[in-house]
Amino acid sequence: MTEAAPILKLARRLALEAGAIQKERYATELQIETKSAAVDLVTDVDKACEALIVDAITAERPEDAVLAEEGSGVDHPGAELRWIIDPLDGTTNYAHAYPRFCVSIGVTRNGEPWIGVVYDPLLDELYEAVRGEGARLNGEPLRVSPEKDLSHGLLATGFAYDRRKSEEDNLTQFAAFLKAARALRRDGSAALDLCYVAAGRFDGFWEFKLQPWDVAAGCLIVNEAGGRTSDTEGGESHWSGRTVVASNGALHEAMLDVLRRHA
Ligand code: IPD
Ligand code: CA
Ligand code: CA
Repeated sequence: MTEAAPILKLARRLALEAGAIQKERYATELQIETKSAAVDLVTDVDKACEALIVDAITAERPEDAVLAEEGSGVDHPGAELRWIIDPLDGTTNYAHAYPRFCVSIGVTRNGEPWIGVVYDPLLDELYEAVRGEGARLNGEPLRVSPEKDLSHGLLATGFAYDRRKSEEDNLTQFAAFLKAARALRRDGSAALDLCYVAAGRFDGFWEFKLQPWDVAAGCLIVNEAGGRTSDTEGGESHWSGRTVVASNGALHEAMLDVLRRHA
């Protein structure tokens, strides 16, 4: 058994349990509130999933730090392990009963990405990765696409919740990739978008103004599936979520080039 095995087992169990709540409550009546903007939603299911995950980690691993989107995590500065949790990624989809959302759980060790688990409960697809040990989907090894030509690529992106007020709204870049790639998708769950890059379903993904919980698991899964992740400069600040570019590796420089020319 590797050192990661018990942590991966706990992350997997919590992702499956939270996913079961999402599946059970899917397309039922929800309590919906807004957060940072009128288009930024949170539901009672986001909160229930976060409570389940954070309570279990706190009980089973009280020394670990926990960063969770809805604010119930507890920081322990200097902790070796930090759990980074998006209890429901794709809340707008969930609120509209659009079937694309997931649970995302990442774990860093001494500040380095170590373990990632993403679960899509409707498709029953469990993505996971351990740094240096590869990525899997329902136990089968994952590999990014071999596509080398951006004009044949299927790309995905998303738009931040401040888009009604901010001029940094990703529309310039969206237009540029719409011309450069074969096709674009905007499907409302950044964590699943990243897993789809890892699975070779998308050839690339970019987004601005994400948060650590959107990318902590998904970027590791892309890297472990043989892909590349970076910020728009090709650097490492993407773990913060501020700018994220993920690709099969072969298309990475071409994507960075489009983003540089349309900054
Ligand atoms: C959102 C989704 C969406 C992305 C947004 C995220 P949430 O997360 O990942 O695809 O475009 O920027 O904030 O709010 O559903 O957890
Ligand atoms: Ca999210
Ligand atoms: Ca969320």
